[in-house]
Amino acid sequence: MIGSKDFNPGSIDGNMMTSKTKTEAQHSLLKEKINIPGRKTYEEVFDKRTFLELYSLMKEGVIDIIDYPISTGKEAKVFRGEQKDGTPIAVKIMRINTAVFKEYKKYIEGDHRFKDTSKSGLKLIYAWTRKEFSNLRAMHDGGIKVPEPISFSKNILIMEYLQHRDHPAPMLKDVDIDKEDMEYVSREILGYMDTLYNDLEMVHGDLSEFNVLISGGYPYLIDVSQSVFLDHPQAEELLKRDINNFVRYFKDNDVDISEDDVIEKIGIEEKIEV
Ligand SMILES: Nc1ncnc2c1ncn2[C@@H]1O[C@H](COP(=O)(O)OP(=O)(O)OP(=O)(O)O)[C@@H](O)[C@H]1O
Ligand SMILES: [Mg+2]
Repeated sequence: MIGSKDFNPGSIDGNMMTSKTKTEAQHSLLKEKINIPGRKTYEEVFDKRTFLELYSLMKEGVIDIIDYPISTGKEAKVFRGEQKDGTPIAVKIMRINTAVFKEYKKYIEGDHRFKDTSKSGLKLIYAWTRKEFSNLRAMHDGGIKVPEPISFSKNILIMEYLQHRDHPAPMLKDVDIDKEDMEYVSREILGYMDTLYNDLEMVHGDLSEFNVLISGGYPYLIDVSQSVFLDHPQAEELLKRDINNFVRYFKDNDVDISEDDVIEKIGIEEKIEV
């Protein structure tokens, strides 16, 4: 930044500049010495394939408008949008990114719903999207508070938009709530874990204060693409991680809870080592 001490009108005012200094100034710019901060972070908003898919979803009337990005992470971008009747929606676009293929593969393999799915490239990303849609459907129908799934196509998932007043719903980690509300949130989430495990026979698999949104006075679980059924080879490991994350977060926030309380509440028969 140019401070007032450095400010020398003679050197930048065209009328007062000699032709020599003007040429020198141009020259150093032309040599591309200028460094644009953050240049490496520029990237396209939508790759061509995604753009065309959004276009067909718009033509079909599933999406009317896309307003603005809510989140642009390394696995997905989430936008606020609207349907024709003005209903707000969340549009989650999975990145077509080879770096995540390996990670996704281990969840898709071993999931009986995807036994016929090709485990590579685009097909894997599409399966990942379909998996999140179908997990949201199962959880929503099972009475767990998750965004209601609306539609999906290729790498695009459309779901209920969760909000807090005029803003996208905040993550649990970003809300400032008192002890009593924190206890209430912990009880609700424990209830969701119970329903997941006992009624739906599923595990969230990435439960944390990042994947719980607060909307309309309730905690909602989001980001369920990696959720699996209990017969999945990773299920036990994911369940342990969920329990650990849950207990760590709420203990740090003065809620009196332990791993044993969770195991007892959920009623896991064989006591798992957490
Ligand atoms: N239905 C929704 N309504 C409102 N906001 C949402 C909704 N779904 C997701 N978001 C916002 O988008 C963010 C990212 O969503 P999500 O956790 O599902 O993606 P992700 O797989 O973690 O992506 P990445 O790992 O790339 O960040 C959330 O933290 C939340 O802020
Ligand atoms: Mg997330």
